Amino acid sequence: MTLIFGIETSCDETAAAVVEATADGKLHVRANIVASQVEMHRKYGGVFPEVAARMHVETIHAVAREALAVAAVEPAALSAIAVTKGPGLAGSLLVGVNFAKGLALAWEKPLIGVNHLEGHLYSLWLSEHADLLRFPAVCLLISGGHTELILVRAYRDYALLGSTLDDAVGEAFDKVARVLGLGYPGGPAIERAAREGNPSAYAFARADLGEERPYAFSFSGIKTAVMRAVQPQPAHGKRARGEESLREGRLRPDVNIADVAASFQAAVVEMLIAPTLRAAESYGATAIWLAGGVSANKYLRQQLSARTQLPVYAPPLPLCTDNAAMIAAAGYFRYAAGQRDSLALDVLPMLPLVSP
Ligand code: KG4
Ligand code: ZN
Repeated sequence: MTLIFGIETSCDETAAAVVEATADGKLHVRANIVASQVEMHRKYGGVFPEVAARMHVETIHAVAREALAVAAVEPAALSAIAVTKGPGLAGSLLVGVNFAKGLALAWEKPLIGVNHLEGHLYSLWLSEHADLLRFPAVCLLISGGHTELILVRAYRDYALLGSTLDDAVGEAFDKVARVLGLGYPGGPAIERAAREGNPSAYAFARADLGEERPYAFSFSGIKTAVMRAVQPQPAHGKRARGEESLREGRLRPDVNIADVAASFQAAVVEMLIAPTLRAAESYGATAIWLAGGVSANKYLRQQLSARTQLPVYAPPLPLCTDNAAMIAAAGYFRYAAGQRDSLALDVLPMLPLVSP
C-alpha cells in the first residue's frame, strides 16, 4: 500500500489530502481538506495575490493536520509528500512548497514536486471511471487560468494541441458574472442563473479561428459582446466608463440576467466543444476527458456527451476545482516512476504542462 500526502496552494484554496494506492493500482481518497478563501476574495471580486499568500500561511498547518486526522494516518506511514510547484501565484506556491519541505525533512519522506495542470488531469483517476481510462485520449483542461486541449498519449506523456489566445474560459465566466452582479466565483453562479434562461435569447457571436488554428480558443470577444449587451449606454458626449460600471454591476433596465447567462454559457460551451471534437477525431481518441474547475459545468458535460459517440469522462464534482487529492494522485504516478525532488525544489509560476 502506498500513501501519498498532497499539498496544494497555487491560487486561493489551501488544501491537503491523503490518497492511497492499493496493490491493484487503484487510487482511493482517504482525506481531502480544502479551506477556500472565496469569502475573502468575494469582497474584492477576485483573487488578490498578497492576501491569498497570507491566508495560506495562516491556514495550511490546520488543514494539513485535519487531513491526517480524517485519513487516520500517522506521518510515519506515508510514502511521500507531493506538492504543487507551479503554475500559479508565486507567493501562494511558496507557502505550500516550503511547508512540504518542512514536512519532508521532519518526517524523513521523499518530496515530489507536481505540476498543477497534471494534477487536474490525474483527478480523473479519482473518478468512478478510473478503470475505463485508455490512451490516447483528448483532454479539455479548463479552469480559471487555463484553457488547453491536450493529447494524452500515455502516463506522463502529453502533447499540447491548442490553448486560448486570450482569456481562460473560467476567467470569462468570472468576468461576465461580475458584470451581471452574480458574484464570485462566476462559473457556478452563471450555471445556476442559466437554468431559468433562454439560451437563444441573445445571439453572441462565436469565435471561429478557422482551419489555421483548429484547436485554439478565444473568449475575449464574447466577454466584450456581453458587456455591450447589458451595460447602460454612456450619456451623450461622455466616454464609456466600462471598468467603473463593471465594478458596480450596473445593468440596462431591460436586461434579463437568466437569458444573458444562458446565452453566454451556450456560446462558450459551443466554442469549447467544436475544437475538442475535431481533435478527438483527428487523433483517434478513445475518449474525451474533461478536467479543471469549468469541467464541473453540467451543461457542458451534457452538450458534449450529446454530440459524440465517444465516452466523456470527468472528475467527481468536488474534485474539479482546486484540491490536494489530485496533487497526491499525480504525485503517486511520479512516485511510482521514481521521481524524487531535493529540498532545493523551487516554485515555477509559469510552468507549462508540456515543455515547448
Ligand atoms: O481549477 P480551478 O479551481 O482553479 C484554477 O486552477 O484556475 O478553476 C476555477 C474556475 C473559476 O473560474 C470558476 O468560475 C470555474 O472554474 N468554475 C465553473 C464552474 N465551477 C467552477 N465554470 C463553469 N461552470 C461551473 N459549474
Ligand atoms: Zn486549478
